[in-house]
Amino acid sequence: MNSRIIGTGSYLPARIVPNSELEHSMETTDAWIRERTGIERRHYAAEGETTVDMAEQAARRAIEAAGIQPTDVDLIVFGTTTPDLVFPNAGAMLQARLGCRGGAAFSVEAACSSFLYALSVADKFVRAGEAKRALVVGAETLTRITDFSDRTTAILFADGAGAVLLEGSEEQGVISTHLHADGSYQNLLYCTGGISKGYEPGTGNRAFIRMAGREVFKIAVTMLGNVVDEVLAANHLQKSDIKWLVPHQANIRIIQAVARKLDMSMDNVIVTVQDHGNTSAASVPLALDRGVRDGRIKKGDLVLLEAFGGGLTWGAALVRM
Ligand code: UT7
Repeated sequence: MNSRIIGTGSYLPARIVPNSELEHSMETTDAWIRERTGIERRHYAAEGETTVDMAEQAARRAIEAAGIQPTDVDLIVFGTTTPDLVFPNAGAMLQARLGCRGGAAFSVEAACSSFLYALSVADKFVRAGEAKRALVVGAETLTRITDFSDRTTAILFADGAGAVLLEGSEEQGVISTHLHADGSYQNLLYCTGGISKGYEPGTGNRAFIRMAGREVFKIAVTMLGNVVDEVLAANHLQKSDIKWLVPHQANIRIIQAVARKLDMSMDNVIVTVQDHGNTSAASVPLALDRGVRDGRIKKGDLVLLEAFGGGLTWGAALVRM
């Protein structure tokens, strides 16, 4: 038994914030942001709009694309680092919205790699016959943990949601997943506060993203290069066998480095970072949905998904669409 992606969906909140708007509130320029990151604009959730609100929109679109009913979903694995509440978990909250009661529903927290982690977990449930149709979500409201007084991170992060529907199938689908973490790098990219550890004095019990960008950049390029090699070796593939790269959308320069590693033209890379910045767990399913809906990614194509984030965590998945 394999698990196959039978539908994709995504959602971006209505408010679009171009680089030019950030020029007014911090010492930055549209030119710097474009050149160093590739980002041109991003979407911010409305006041009161939550991670689960956005996930519901993306999930409904994936369910519709799959041609099934919400009640057909018997597993939800929800990748996020910005859940609405400590509990109920975001998966259970989404389950209630969709009205598909009774199956397992839980969240997976691995920062920007959360969607890849969630996909890997859901794939194993389906392969084991413990779920027939699994909804896998990546959704974030990163603006709620963004420090808008820190220009080195504030220009990067944004909000959004993406989802895929996995179904048990005899056909090839998710071929292999490769997950990694190295917690010894945790101080390079982290959030300053949380329930158990508490909050830094002077933050008004708020938590903010901190990142040593240059260091994270270098490790991301190395580790993503390694995981690409791992995927090819594990599946006895040549670089040229991969039709599409669907990368985590953190920085165009990291995406280009991975494409170079694959000897791949940027024409075969789904790039959305210019339109929504770094949406963490949401970025891979957002890009996948874009590629599927605009007709570039077709049934039967071999697609490599990859992501890298806080933890540090990283991973990849090889998928036959
Ligand atoms: O998704 C999770 C994983 N995260 C990532 O993959 C992010 C990895 N890191 C990056 O994408 C890049 O390191 C950044 C985009 C965060 C930064 O780009 P960089 O080319 O590494 O810049 P830098 O940190 O080396 O800074 C270069 C200069 C500095 O000035 P000096 O020291 O050279 O005078 C910064 O102060 O750019 C300055 N700078 C800015 N200037 C204008 C930093 N942020 C800004 C800004 N606007 N927003």
